[in-house]
Amino acid sequence: MKECPLPDKPEYAFIGRSNVGKSSLINMLCMHGGLAKTSATPGKTRIINHFLINESWYLVDLPGYGYAKVSKNMRKDFEKTLHNYLKKRENLYCLFVLIDSRIPPQNNDLEFINNLGKMKLPFAIVFTKTDKTTQKQLADNTKAFTKELLKTWEELPHCFYSSAVTKRGREEILEYIASLNFMPILS
Ligand code: GTP
Ligand code: MG
Repeated sequence: MKECPLPDKPEYAFIGRSNVGKSSLINMLCMHGGLAKTSATPGKTRIINHFLINESWYLVDLPGYGYAKVSKNMRKDFEKTLHNYLKKRENLYCLFVLIDSRIPPQNNDLEFINNLGKMKLPFAIVFTKTDKTTQKQLADNTKAFTKELLKTWEELPHCFYSSAVTKRGREEILEYIASLNFMPILS
């Protein structure tokens, strides 16, 4: 946390299970393949990475949470980093929570989102890797996920569909960020 840049610009962070595609989505948004490091092996991103965009706002790549194939110690480290970041980063305008669109609702994702509610943090959801699902799978999984959310939330957050391969969702996410950038710094 001590090495993060000053919290004087709007900041948008990407979070989700290890391997869900956070770093790939950042590269896709920036049209810059090698900006954030990606890997087929979960646990690639291990520190908080800030990318300054147009000298005026930040995209933030974070370590993932809760993937069974990441060692227990590494998971603990990542979770501590994330908790501190979420608790302390006062210029966090919106957190994008990435959910793998290929799989049915996972408890750790739902718990993570419910915890954001307790922390009163603004967030949106991005269903990732849509190039790897059929239309039906995508509809079934996203419907099941939003149904689970509505058990604890009165309203659904903004939901986006993305693919780092086809660039699906790029314009929608960037437009959403642009609309929030005009809001004054919170706190
Ligand atoms: P950690 O840093 O380990 O937490 O992972 P991450 O969430 O940053 O995932 P990353 O972007 O490194 O991607 C993980 C794997 O999924 C890589 O092999 C990517 O090429 C692949 N991937 C990411 N996004 C997509 C996508 O939209 N479509 C497809 N087909 N593959 C993707
Ligand atoms: Mg990563």
